[in-house]
Amino acid sequence: MSKIVEASTESIENFGSGLSHFNHNFASSGLFTDEKLAELIERYPREYYMLNTMTAQGDKPEWRSGEINNISGDKVLQALTDGRIWLALRRFDVVCPEYDDLVHQAFSEMEDLKPGLKTFNHKSTMLISSPGARVLYHADIPYVCLFHVRGRKKLWLYDAENKSHLPDKTLEGVILRETEEEIGYDEAWDKEASAVVLEPGKALSWQLNAPHRVDNLDGLNVSITTDYFTPYAQKKYGVYYANGVARRKFGMTPKSTNVDGLGAYAKCAAALAFKKTGIMKSSEREMISTFRLDPNDIGKIVDIPNQERTVIEQL
Ligand SMILES: [Fe+2]
Repeated sequence: MSKIVEASTESIENFGSGLSHFNHNFASSGLFTDEKLAELIERYPREYYMLNTMTAQGDKPEWRSGEINNISGDKVLQALTDGRIWLALRRFDVVCPEYDDLVHQAFSEMEDLKPGLKTFNHKSTMLISSPGARVLYHADIPYVCLFHVRGRKKLWLYDAENKSHLPDKTLEGVILRETEEEIGYDEAWDKEASAVVLEPGKALSWQLNAPHRVDNLDGLNVSITTDYFTPYAQKKYGVYYANGVARRKFGMTPKSTNVDGLGAYAKCAAALAFKKTGIMKSSEREMISTFRLDPNDIGKIVDIPNQERTVIEQL
């Protein structure tokens, strides 16, 4: 395949640190047609997909997980087009390496364009979501690059350094995986946010841990979202992990979130040791299926009765 990425000098410069907006041509691979996506959905094992629905704007934020319920791929796409649902297909490395190849080529082109850029631990997910779906205000652990392929969506981005929007304790909770995706949000913050409309063929990456939320605007939305680390992201992860454990298990109030220097290295080593002991394992969140797609009314969902709800095993 010819070149995948086309980026301005400024976007190349900011990739892997700040806000970077560039073009990609994933769609020309032919892997994103209805037919290909339906086929892909049908071959996804339960442990590698997540199906979600979310409350409407203005309602109490709630994010629910559900089951495809053995519905055929084309019907699932129909449900995604007609409903308010969000499907995430994870682990390309296991299920669909042909999609992973596109992402790897895009990253290697960005690394060629920006000497010194080093990215690793790429983990990609296909996101297929309804025209009216949204993703609530949240922060991700690694850097994220969103390759948008079909439909239009609006991404609201907030400053990662603003500690009233993202207090240290909250970011620690995200990194320790103890909170649900949602974190505290106030509409008034939108005044200071940057809003970016994503059209097909656009890719976007942003500041590490910057809180964001997404409103789909129109059309069935199809994107690939890729998590990635840089050496800086890895160190910040270690610092917040260690601070989080110190606060929760040893009653300390961590003073420094500095990612440079010896203290940060010590914290990264401590974080690795804490992770090995599994000290925080019991506070990691669990996902429970509370709905399934309705096979008789495509686009609608049916509640799973309380006694039949199960924990979703994700590998
Ligand atoms: Fe995100």
